[in-house]
Amino acid sequence: MIIANQTDALEDTRLKYRYLDLRRPVLQQTLKTRATLMQATREYLDGLDFIELETPILTKSTPEGARDYLVPSRIHPGRFFALPQSPQLFKQLFMIGGMERYYQIAKCFRDEDLRADRQPEFTQIDIEASFVDQAQVMTMTEGLVAHVFKQTIDVTIPLPFDVLTYDEAMRRYGSDKPDRRFGLELLDVSSVFASSDFEYLRGQSVSMLHLPNSTLTRKHIDALSEIAKTYGASGVSFMKYDTDFTSGIASKCSREELAAIASLAQPSANDLYLFVAGDLRVAQTALGQVRLHLGQELQLINDKEYDVCWVVDWPLFEPTDTGVTSAHHPFTSPKPQTMDALTKDAIAQAYDVVCNGYELGGGSIRIHQPALQAKVLELLGMSKERAKEQFGFFLEALEYGTPPHGGIALGVDRFVMLLTNTTNIRDVIAFPKTASAQDLMSQAPGDVSDAQLSELQISRKK
Ligand code: AMO
Repeated sequence: MIIANQTDALEDTRLKYRYLDLRRPVLQQTLKTRATLMQATREYLDGLDFIELETPILTKSTPEGARDYLVPSRIHPGRFFALPQSPQLFKQLFMIGGMERYYQIAKCFRDEDLRADRQPEFTQIDIEASFVDQAQVMTMTEGLVAHVFKQTIDVTIPLPFDVLTYDEAMRRYGSDKPDRRFGLELLDVSSVFASSDFEYLRGQSVSMLHLPNSTLTRKHIDALSEIAKTYGASGVSFMKYDTDFTSGIASKCSREELAAIASLAQPSANDLYLFVAGDLRVAQTALGQVRLHLGQELQLINDKEYDVCWVVDWPLFEPTDTGVTSAHHPFTSPKPQTMDALTKDAIAQAYDVVCNGYELGGGSIRIHQPALQAKVLELLGMSKERAKEQFGFFLEALEYGTPPHGGIALGVDRFVMLLTNTTNIRDVIAFPKTASAQDLMSQAPGDVSDAQLSELQISRKK
């Protein structure tokens, strides 16, 4: 393997000999940036009188929604610790314990399907404070993000960040983590087709993209359709405009419908209109992915630019096949106006900070009233027994007088990806796992001896 910034060595080979790979100047620089990020974080939060505190690694299952990594107990055979998916419950317990401003650069573990921006073991800047509201957490976070950008890569991020509601982000960008470095916004044209003669669009949610002066061919559009299909839509329909709307679905639409489209997105020669119809979130998400693809293919993205924004007003719950689950986690507070008449449509006091299409961080104002917590768990369909078994210690603690509190966690690895302009999370971690959650260098996970298993009273399945 030749040690150089540009390498054509296979990633697996580089990971097997990571200590040699680490000699490449580009990796050395990335790890220095990572260290500067940690330093800048401590500098900023220490300056605001936050206290760096630690929480346990051997603990009970936490409620972030992924699968846990389990550690068997030798002393208590048949019982298991879970590695923390985040320090969520402990940081809230610090608030109950009177430590009013906490932070930690925390290791988190989640056994979930990996993606280019996900690792099973990752790092968070985890923050919590008492007697704060959503606006205060957001302002504090904005200061932190801007300070880190300045200290690490000398980029000035304008404050305050723009704020989009979840609905707006989905409607305009087809994503809850919008990449706003380019326009090409989606338009909701459902009302145009509400009572159309064209059955395919009638009564559906219809999302539209308008591409001025487009050279996209039929073949391109077919490829975009395939993308939309992978997100659950039935495909992408289109029409073109030269002196009038032609081809694709134009002949199926009435004059009034075409006029309505023209008034929403002024046509001129060679324009292309793309449509995805279906369930609201499916249509938006599928066309949002088409938008992202076009942003890259048509080179609309300036990769030197940083766009940071907030996405707020998330739903508190998400539907499942059997009921609802928490969109964030079960300790997230609903907005005060929906508190009394809490329903499954409640809006959460939750906020995500998004940069260039990545979810950089997320947090919420927490529930501090035991009765409201009980109500949320009830709506989640969690029996009292199960709640007690899973986090009874926490529910009990809430009864002892809990200050109003809230916080956030920022992904360190994703932050470094953005600062160093890489799309591969493995590039920013010294000793990362592969996409199939293995460490190729140390060959972990590895086998253990029968003696070790027998001490733990664990037997292998034949
Ligand atoms: P959440 O689950 O949104 O919130 O995680 C916060 C941030 O952590 C990063 N992140 C990851 N990074 C790499 N690999 C992963 N597998 C991974 N999973 C998450 C993301 C994400 O925005 N306890 C709450 C925070 C809170 O409410 O305060 C939590 O963990 O950047």
